[in-house]
Amino acid sequence: MLDRLDQQPPDALLALIKLYEADPRSTKIDLGVGVYRTADGATPVFRAIKAAERRLVESQETKAYLGPEGDMGFVRALVPHVFGVNGNMGGRVDGMQTPGGTGAVRLAVALAKKAGVAKIWMGTPSWPNHAQILADCGVATGTFNHATGDGAADMDALREVIANAGAEDAVLLHGACHNPTGVDYANEEWDEIAALVKDKGILPIIDLAYQGLGDGMDADAYGLRAVLAAVPEALVAYSCDKNFGLYRDRVGALYAMGASADDTTRIMSNGAALARANWSMPPDHGGAAVRVILEDEALTADWLAEVEDMRQRIGQVRAKLAEAGTAGSVDLTPLGAQKGMFAMLPVSKEQVQELREKHGVYMAGSGRINVAGLTMGNIDAFVAALADVTG
Ligand code: LMR
Repeated sequence: MLDRLDQQPPDALLALIKLYEADPRSTKIDLGVGVYRTADGATPVFRAIKAAERRLVESQETKAYLGPEGDMGFVRALVPHVFGVNGNMGGRVDGMQTPGGTGAVRLAVALAKKAGVAKIWMGTPSWPNHAQILADCGVATGTFNHATGDGAADMDALREVIANAGAEDAVLLHGACHNPTGVDYANEEWDEIAALVKDKGILPIIDLAYQGLGDGMDADAYGLRAVLAAVPEALVAYSCDKNFGLYRDRVGALYAMGASADDTTRIMSNGAALARANWSMPPDHGGAAVRVILEDEALTADWLAEVEDMRQRIGQVRAKLAEAGTAGSVDLTPLGAQKGMFAMLPVSKEQVQELREKHGVYMAGSGRINVAGLTMGNIDAFVAALADVTG
């Protein structure tokens, strides 16, 4: 029977990790998968996480099962940071822990499907796994253009999609630090989106995977909070991969906002049932470490300072890229105004390959770069390589 399964290619983005590791050149530059790097090119464990892990080792008395919802202390301690003070809206906002942001998106889509969603609309380009998850869940997908050629969000495309959406449709939006374009909606645009989604009555699903790396923790939640303030119900997929540096520990959360606290309880009971049938319960360690941080004022302050350092560094790299102006045929100036870790460069697959083979620059075949992979030490070499292949 298993002979019927065709060979699948490895995930293109994740395959870059191994390709990069196998390259012996000391000058290689990794702009592939979305992992934050310091000015020295490292991805260290956060100070606050190390401290929390030490406390966990000393104080944790059991590793017995929790439940499909995971560590609810973790889930609820995140609420004020994501949704704001009083962000649980008297119980209307609640959640459950998931294996990473991917698990949260997967659960959001599965919940929407179980609730009878007709079609989920998503802007393109998007994080490649969005389309894969939608396809694997067997949900009809519609797409619209996310960004205009001049680096702004394509509001006309979104307006048109919402205007023509069916009553049973949903729209999947990136909360901040759009992956892969770095093009976010301005606050006024979020206000308009909130009103449009409310008027049309479609379900908003918001994926917030990079909070704190764009304009700051609260600023990056503006859109999410604006939409939730306007509509009766919403789903939110959250990732702690980047802003707690917990990538491989798989820490995320799925939040639902229902019309009432009772509605939210009912929605989350479906989330728990779906989780049980999928992964039973999420891995505990990373979520517990986040909870320890968020329950401690000093550790929380230290964590926020670490996120702010990351944000500042990304801003510095973006400013330096913008300062470079053009590299060959590529205009780098829009990168200065974009947000978060990613940017799309107008390069062909052949040019991406040449960058890799000739210059040791690793980036996604789509032309996406992880800006955080650049340092003041390798940025000039990157710009020169880009000029060489596109000039
Ligand atoms: C990325 O887009 O590079 C990250 O979100 C990692 C991933 O899982 O794809």
